[in-house]
Amino acid sequence: MEEMEMKRIKIFDTTLRDGEQAPGFTMNLSEKVKIAKQLEKLGVDVIEAGFAIASPGDFNAIREISRNVGNISVASLARTTKLDIDRAWEALQFAKKPRIHLFIATSDVHLKHKLKMTKDEALKSAVEGVRYAKRFFDDIEFSAEDAVRSDIGFLTEIFTAVIAEGAKTINIPDTVGYTTPDEYYTFIKTLKSQITNIEHVEISVHCHNDLGFAVANSLAAIKAGATQIECTINGIGERAGNAALEEIVMAIDTRKDYFNCYTNVDTKQIMKTSKLLQNITGVKVQPNKAIVGDNAFAHEAGIHQHGMLQERTTYEIMTPESIGLEMSKIILGKHSGRHAFVDRVKALGYVLDSTELETAYAAFIDLCDKKKEVYDADIDAILNKETTHIPEVVKLETFMIHSGKHIPATATISLIINGAELTDASVGDGPVDASFKVIEKSVNKAIKLIDYKINAVSEGKDALGEAVVVLKIDDKNYRGRGLSTDVIEASINAYIEAVNKSYIEIN
Ligand code: KIV
Ligand code: ZN
Repeated sequence: MEEMEMKRIKIFDTTLRDGEQAPGFTMNLSEKVKIAKQLEKLGVDVIEAGFAIASPGDFNAIREISRNVGNISVASLARTTKLDIDRAWEALQFAKKPRIHLFIATSDVHLKHKLKMTKDEALKSAVEGVRYAKRFFDDIEFSAEDAVRSDIGFLTEIFTAVIAEGAKTINIPDTVGYTTPDEYYTFIKTLKSQITNIEHVEISVHCHNDLGFAVANSLAAIKAGATQIECTINGIGERAGNAALEEIVMAIDTRKDYFNCYTNVDTKQIMKTSKLLQNITGVKVQPNKAIVGDNAFAHEAGIHQHGMLQERTTYEIMTPESIGLEMSKIILGKHSGRHAFVDRVKALGYVLDSTELETAYAAFIDLCDKKKEVYDADIDAILNKETTHIPEVVKLETFMIHSGKHIPATATISLIINGAELTDASVGDGPVDASFKVIEKSVNKAIKLIDYKINAVSEGKDALGEAVVVLKIDDKNYRGRGLSTDVIEASINAYIEAVNKSYIEIN
């Protein structure tokens, strides 16, 4: 089938709004901008950058992302009130393609218990919201929250009304992940047959994954006529998450024969985007995660390996290269030299200024002293770290650990705090606990450890260890990431990075 005859599906990415609002996925401003720039490279059609009225952090992120991306739609979520719409416009006024994403709940349970509104009041609010938003926005999307559990007659009425008022996209969310593919297909077909002028607007869907159907439901919606899919990288989002962008895009691409549609996503950027989000949030996807999990392209069983060697398509329906996963890993080492490093950085898709390159090269050389073979994953880890600038109020000078069986762990750490050296020691429940206690004492802050994870970044017993901590300081959570071939050092670095973030206004 020729691509010209195929239907184009728009990808609306809500990683920075629905994804970011899930526990454990909070990002600071520079992290959000970094993700947005990568989403632009990935080729999504719309970036939902936040909910402008929800917090100053969301507001600033929408504004900064609008300034930092090119000719791509940037959206803010907003309720149908004037206050929300004004705030969304304030955040989006510099965007090249601003979109407002208005929503109001339409199901009986939401109307009665959450909004305490009648259907007529919700309808009036929706119509007035769209009318008011039109003063500022040309591109208006309207969502009927909890559409799937709403009365279909009422949905028909409200969607018909907002289209008449100027909405260009109508979204039919499965807010609580309740529907099934067949049911959703019929639901959308019925709405399509009932809503006046629906053929002049985009039909969008937004599926949550509570029953594990988010991707299947989104794909069923395409079959029923949806033209926009709302999704997130790695499927992050409220509760069990949203439909995973990479799964939808690769399903459409791999099964063009069945779906007869395409997206504008550059699939080769999928792995990089997924890894960037994992590195920034410190939340790794499970190894068997479709498309981007570590095992997604691994063939362990002998019979599979044999088949693959004879003919790749025996067990592989898409190639690792198609998602930007390089199977021919080039390994660098101490003697590879600066040229090879710079070439690899470029090949991995990074564009660094000369200062960033110097810092990254120094980190690479440092790593080569500790580790014989440096893999792409190590370089990714270095670069994702080195390109995030956090002022170092606190710096690690040296540390010494004394621990063993039946010996209480003691950490002695020298820190440079605001230029002055301070050395202290603490005993703890293991070397990591002892180290964290010293830093807490030295910086004289009340710090609560909320989360602590440690992962190996690459292969081998000298693998680079990545530690991620989340600290509560002055009632706010800060995430820090540390890298080292020594896991204690990685943990100390992560703790210090989170402490350093608490000194600056990071939202
Ligand atoms: O899940 C949902 O219904 C939403 C809307 C605001 C679109 O996130
Ligand atoms: Zn949602």
